[in-house]
Amino acid sequence: MLRANRPLELAKFEGDDLDQTFHLGAFIDNKLVSVASFYFENHPLLTEEPYQYRLRGMATLPEYQRKGLSSELLRVAFPIIKQNLCTLVWCNARESAVGYYQKVGFEKMGEIFEVPDVGPHYLMFKKLD
Ligand SMILES: CC(C)(COP(=O)(O)OP(=O)(O)OC[C@H]1O[C@@H](n2cnc3c(N)ncnc32)[C@H](O)[C@@H]1OP(=O)(O)O)[C@@H](O)C(=O)NCCC(=O)NCCS
Repeated sequence: MLRANRPLELAKFEGDDLDQTFHLGAFIDNKLVSVASFYFENHPLLTEEPYQYRLRGMATLPEYQRKGLSSELLRVAFPIIKQNLCTLVWCNARESAVGYYQKVGFEKMGEIFEVPDVGPHYLMFKKLD
């Protein structure tokens, strides 16, 4: 749904199969309804925290949104990231999802920028205590 009506290939990201990468899914009645992927990758502008994870591909099927599923995936992910001695999570958040990311504790950084074929985004990050 993140790349609706576009080839499935576009749902694959570089690093999907790396050892440090992990993919989470929320299932209801055996149906995959919410996903998120986490990559061991630093952002060049976020220099304070030496070890970081990048969040990508976060999405919940429309009929399951606003039920806490994405937040629950993050609640599962953060301890895994901390266990890997990483103290920051960042993402390129599409503008329409900024409110969601703020709700779950992310902050915006810098100016809005365009991701080709996807639209306007903000760099957002959350430090893990
Ligand atoms: C953004 C998205 C992943 C959130 O998933 P979700 O499972 O609905 O999120 P949650 O139910 O855990 O929401 C957590 C909180 O954020 C709020 N929220 C959810 N989407 C929001 C939005 N777009 N703007 C503002 N607040 C939002 C929820 O109401 C909830 O608040 P509450 O705790 O007060 O009830 C989902 O809307 C989605 O798939 N959107 C389309 C794909 C997308 O844009 N993904 C992000 C790409 S960067």
